[in-house]
Amino acid sequence: MMKTEILKLLRETDGYISGQQISEQFGVSRTAVWKVIRQLQDEGYRVEAVRNKGYHIAGSPDVMTKEELDSLMKTCWAGRNILYYDETDSTNLRIRQAGEDGAPHGTLAVADRQTAGRGRRGRTWESPQGSSISMSILLRPQIAPNRASMLTLVMALSTAEGIRKCLESADAFQDGGVPECIPDIQIKWPNDIIIDGKKLAGILTEMSSQIDYINHVTVGVGINVNMTEFPSGIRETATSLRLECGRRIRRAPLIAAVMERLEENYEVFLKTEDLSGLLERYSALLVNRGRDVLIAGTGEEYRARAIGIDPTGELVVRREDGTVEKIYAGEVSVRGVYGYV
Ligand code: BTN
Repeated sequence: MMKTEILKLLRETDGYISGQQISEQFGVSRTAVWKVIRQLQDEGYRVEAVRNKGYHIAGSPDVMTKEELDSLMKTCWAGRNILYYDETDSTNLRIRQAGEDGAPHGTLAVADRQTAGRGRRGRTWESPQGSSISMSILLRPQIAPNRASMLTLVMALSTAEGIRKCLESADAFQDGGVPECIPDIQIKWPNDIIIDGKKLAGILTEMSSQIDYINHVTVGVGINVNMTEFPSGIRETATSLRLECGRRIRRAPLIAAVMERLEENYEVFLKTEDLSGLLERYSALLVNRGRDVLIAGTGEEYRARAIGIDPTGELVVRREDGTVEKIYAGEVSVRGVYGYV
């Protein structure tokens, strides 16, 4: 689409680019170029027009549109087919539907706001307009259904790495510039993203499968980006990038960064159909690594030291008597000895 291409061109040009150059490049009239520039300005882009020089884009606000997302995506398949919604019930539901309708592997649904956002264990998920990221990706892995839960960990790693990478670049911030210090972005096994002991993002994976065959997998990610307050039930345990960095963050580059990390990590995952190629990086980000956790769910609650994950994504812990055990995500909950993480 021309708008996406013009946006790309403006970004790639250091100084000014003339209307003439743009119109020649795309084989359209200068009036058509002017109309697109007007649309971009209406959407909030600071496109400056200077007589005899042309156009220049000065910083970008937190625009989240299909064109913005398309123009930033650097991947081959992850996020290459975007379904964008200003408002929808739940992007996981949109992707499930798209999966049934035959949408390609890597299709990404993004919503500015969800009216029925869903969390794990039947909980709801808050995704207020203008300040959060709600996205779900469609995956069509040719692996056994019992391996699909590992995709949640692949996404957790990709989300943590993508957020970090994005915060390292000036693109991330609405007011430009890089932050003086980037907060530690960690993972609470299996799939919560944590900053400073509080939850920044969550992941919900759902699957449509036969006994021995996966139809498709939906991996949904919710990231708290620019919220400055939370509802009373989660106020103590939730945080946002804005609260942690003290600046407004642009959501579209963040989505693109997560997709880039996911595409790469997913390919690593597929080579062995497990997490052996990723577990080192994943374990290094574990918030509870080397700390005692409480394990509850099967029988008696007990205390053990978290060590890391194994290739199937189970949490490896060592009990006080030295015995090593593996915890399967579905069966137990793990929490730190002190508080939420
Ligand atoms: C959790 O409980 O931690 C998981 C939260 C997952 C929320 C995301 S937001 C995008 C996608 N759509 C949903 O309805 N849920 C997931």
